[in-house]
Amino acid sequence: MSYNRDNPLARFSALVWGSITFVLFLVLLGVIYIFKHEDPATLEDAAAAKRYDTKGKIFAAQDAALGYKEIEAGKKVQVPPHDVFEYVGKNLAAAKPAATTTPVPGKVKPGAPAVNLEEINKMVKDGDPIDPAVLAAGKAQYMLCAACHGQNGEGGPAGPAHAGSEWVTGPVSNLILIQLRGLQGPITVKGQPFTTIPMMSAQNFQTDEQIAAVLTYLRNSFGNKASAVSPEQVKALRGEVGKPPLTEAELIKP
Ligand code: HEC
Repeated sequence: MSYNRDNPLARFSALVWGSITFVLFLVLLGVIYIFKHEDPATLEDAAAAKRYDTKGKIFAAQDAALGYKEIEAGKKVQVPPHDVFEYVGKNLAAAKPAATTTPVPGKVKPGAPAVNLEEINKMVKDGDPIDPAVLAAGKAQYMLCAACHGQNGEGGPAGPAHAGSEWVTGPVSNLILIQLRGLQGPITVKGQPFTTIPMMSAQNFQTDEQIAAVLTYLRNSFGNKASAVSPEQVKALRGEVGKPPLTEAELIKP
């Protein structure tokens, strides 16, 4: 049968075939969408996806001329490692020693109240059970640290070892303060002074939960065994953010 534009039957059948094609096209789009939106297979993938998402948001906020504080307002922002390295690199490149004590913008809280470190260290006891979900979250968070401290906490030229470090299994307040304020000047770890890069910038863009998780992971991985760290302990020390990086002498001897 030849196609005749005036034949109502032919026009109707064209409409039917057109509709079927259109619906099949939508189904195809749906299938493509489902395959593209697979759930991430590992915790690492999930954390990476989250960081790319956050990075996009930060860039968007910067394009909109928003400040760091505004980006953070009401949101949990995790700065991607790229930005952490850039921050450390800039500080190291600036020859003036004072540059390394410049706090992260938007994080300064001058006149923070004095806190009782002993009390904070006693908040979690040695035998208290450790939640496997916290360890898993800490492992994902440790990606921020692995570049300098090694995938297995073995240490390297950019950071001292965590495996077997007396600091890692020592007083919790030391570890929290290192995250919130950073560390400068050489530190002796396992009898070896670490001098190649005697400076670690504050990692205080992490939430209380993230810091607690990564420290709990450090204290219970790479052969280490010590009590967990709770978000409440981190919260109790938040007021220290913005103060200059600590030196070994300011830490409690492990
Ligand atoms: C850019 C490199 C770098 C990154 C990233 C980094 N650190 Fe460090 N870290 C260092 C350096 C360098 C020191 C030693 C600083 C000094 O000598 O004053 C250090 C020291 C430490 C110490 C005390 C010494 C030890 O190894 O026991 C702890 C604990 C620590 N870092 C934890 C962390 C955690 C947790 C993270 C991730 C959230 C992290 N660091 C990310 C470079 C880094």
